[in-house]
Amino acid sequence: SARINLPSDWQHHLPPRSAWAHKGTHGHLLVVGGSRGMLGAAVMAGEAAYRTGAGLVTITVPSSEQLPLSAKVTQQMVWSWPGESTFSPDSWQMIEERRTRFSAVAIGPGLGRFAGEADWLGELMKRMEVPMVLDADALNILSDHPSLLQKRPSPFATVLTPHPGEMARLLACSVAHVESSRRQAAGELAQKTGAVVVLKGRYTIVAFPDGKQILNLTGSPALAKGGAGDLLTGMIGSLLAQRIPLGAAVPMAVYLHGKAGELAVSSVPHSVMFSDILSAIGPALRQCCQ
Ligand code: APR
Ligand code: MG
Repeated sequence: SARINLPSDWQHHLPPRSAWAHKGTHGHLLVVGGSRGMLGAAVMAGEAAYRTGAGLVTITVPSSEQLPLSAKVTQQMVWSWPGESTFSPDSWQMIEERRTRFSAVAIGPGLGRFAGEADWLGELMKRMEVPMVLDADALNILSDHPSLLQKRPSPFATVLTPHPGEMARLLACSVAHVESSRRQAAGELAQKTGAVVVLKGRYTIVAFPDGKQILNLTGSPALAKGGAGDLLTGMIGSLLAQRIPLGAAVPMAVYLHGKAGELAVSSVPHSVMFSDILSAIGPALRQCCQ
């Protein structure tokens, strides 16, 4: 049976910020995504990562998106990836020079689909020797190329965050099947891939490859809006970048995301914007971890 996601199981992993802290002591998350027309997804993931405590966040986008992105963000650093309007699959020099700067990677928010995507994702999965969370179109690429998961260097964690539609593609079954056997679906994917699986929804399930499952009860219909998933991806990436152990980081991010959704409702869920959810991450952290 699945355990209920309780703060007491992980809250001690987020220690109070030392007065002597500097940005270098709290991890550096790389967010990869934000193609044309979907820049906001990468920005939201990056902002959620800062709100969840990451010391540094860099967003990388195709070079055509660098200027629009730079105009949009204030705190996040911007790095344009070679490739005019999509990610170029054959320019690894730059990543080789920079990859050791990052303590975690989040791939997918606003990524899109493009020629050479499978080679590109496989190289990234292989070269990034840090924990990695894959979401959105990164998951859709994986559904078409399941063997890519074997590219991950073994001790480094991989987290998959499908919604039921993405899960159905990953398991090559129907959405109805996923929804009627959510725990079984999450467990199957975790076991098959060796990744931690976050099957999203009203009651998100976190499934570990060893069979352990955690059922999350926080959440709000305020989260039923485009962008909520990108916030979660950034939050998971943030806790992993801060080197919180995998088994705590993932359920903790899922809980805090749902709690922030609850706390963001000041009048009715209908009117909640993603900025309200971002502002509620701090209060959610205070409730759970201080
Ligand atoms: N109760 C609790 N949590 C909810 C609820 C609800 N009623 N509705 C949504 N959520 C949570 C989910 O659990 C999940 O964490 O909000 C998040 C939604 O994530 P996604 O389904 O990934 O949605 P998002 O990425 O923000 O937007 C949809 O995903 O598949 C792509 O291209 C698609 O642009 C679309 C995007
Ligand atoms: Mg999504």
